[in-house]
Amino acid sequence: NLKNILITGGAGFIGSHICLNFLEQGFNLYIADSFLNSSKEVFNRLKNILDISNNYDVKKINVFEGDIRNYKFLENIFLEASNKNEAIDGVIHLAGLKSVFESTLDPTYYWDVNVNGSINLLKVMMANNCKTILFSSSATVYGNSGEIPFKESNLINPINPYGETKATIEKILNNIFNSDSKSWRICVLRYFNPIGAHPSGMIGENPNGTPENIFPLILQVASGLRKKLFVFGNDWPTQDGTCERDYIHVVDLAQAHIKAMQYLLKAKNCNLTLNVGKGLSTSVLDLLKTFEKVNNVKINFEFTSKRDGDIPISFADTSLSFKILNWKPKYNIEDMCK
Ligand code: NAD
Ligand code: UD1
Repeated sequence: NLKNILITGGAGFIGSHICLNFLEQGFNLYIADSFLNSSKEVFNRLKNILDISNNYDVKKINVFEGDIRNYKFLENIFLEASNKNEAIDGVIHLAGLKSVFESTLDPTYYWDVNVNGSINLLKVMMANNCKTILFSSSATVYGNSGEIPFKESNLINPINPYGETKATIEKILNNIFNSDSKSWRICVLRYFNPIGAHPSGMIGENPNGTPENIFPLILQVASGLRKKLFVFGNDWPTQDGTCERDYIHVVDLAQAHIKAMQYLLKAKNCNLTLNVGKGLSTSVLDLLKTFEKVNNVKINFEFTSKRDGDIPISFADTSLSFKILNWKPKYNIEDMCK
């Protein structure tokens, strides 16, 4: 029962770990990526990892370079798949832009890539009668309103253009489901803070340009590319005064996609929204201390002013995703830092 899955953004940080997991589980993959924030080299790395475990069949990965806003580009992938008698059974939609700061400087670019790109993908899917989709959303859709831990039913109140685009795509998916609820299988995954890398060290987070998220910045300090980390604020209403977040190992996150896709492929129809986090909250200082301890390195840091749009504490109520997906993250903060 080999299933054919299209993964948009499959070369990226999260996408590459998802690809690995799906290949290991025997899925046949079609990847669509513009390589705007990634590199083709990642597929050689995936082959190496799978070769080592003697687990790789070269026919199972089909890479297409292009932009999700281009209808013909996506249509051609579906066509090539059906020409090989491998109709796409489901889509994992990760491709998009993810920098909060950049989204405030160039909101139309973010709306165009994230929202128009998603609409384009959905149109191509409908034209090819593919109605199964897992969408990468973000905890950022909760903004700073509502109770903590964040429940899926909390108010959606994004506070930056990036978050607005994610919330809008979620709305579009809801509208589509309501228009044809008998045939769509939709799962929105709201990721909290994915960090870490595959234990082989051959794939990981390697963004083009200057990173904004804390983990790639810590790595740059550790490797000497950057002198120190600026910690945004030390007087937040938290245990040690620094912000707390729900970090989740990217390998655990990838595994949640396997569970979610298996769930969708078995369902007749469904429209699910799930938090994907560990359900624990870790401060910036605790993350730094753990990183220093497990890697035996010093991370220089300096406190600086708060970052616009930051919130003191963000972590997930994971009860729904743990129950529905029958899944739990395995890795702890030490593993993520190693
Ligand atoms: P990433 O930038 O590493 O991966 C995104 C991939 O999409 C890249 O390979 C990039 O080249 C590709 N891409 C970008 N624009 C494209 C376009 N127009 N057409 C085709 N491909 C395009 O980011 P990531 O961290 O792996 O995130 C993947 C998804 O998860 C994104 O949708 C992001 O918003 C979401 N997400 C990420 C985080 C996080 O902390 N990393 C948190 C919540 C949600
Ligand atoms: C950020 C985004 C969020 C997005 C998420 C994952 C903002 C306001 N929010 O969330 O929309 O979904 O990334 O891509 O940008 N920190 C420092 N110094 C740094 C960088 C970060 O102290 O140089 C702190 C932050 O204040 C925060 C924590 O580290 O407390 C984590 O930051 P980050 O990795 O950017 O994630 P989020 O703030 O959770």
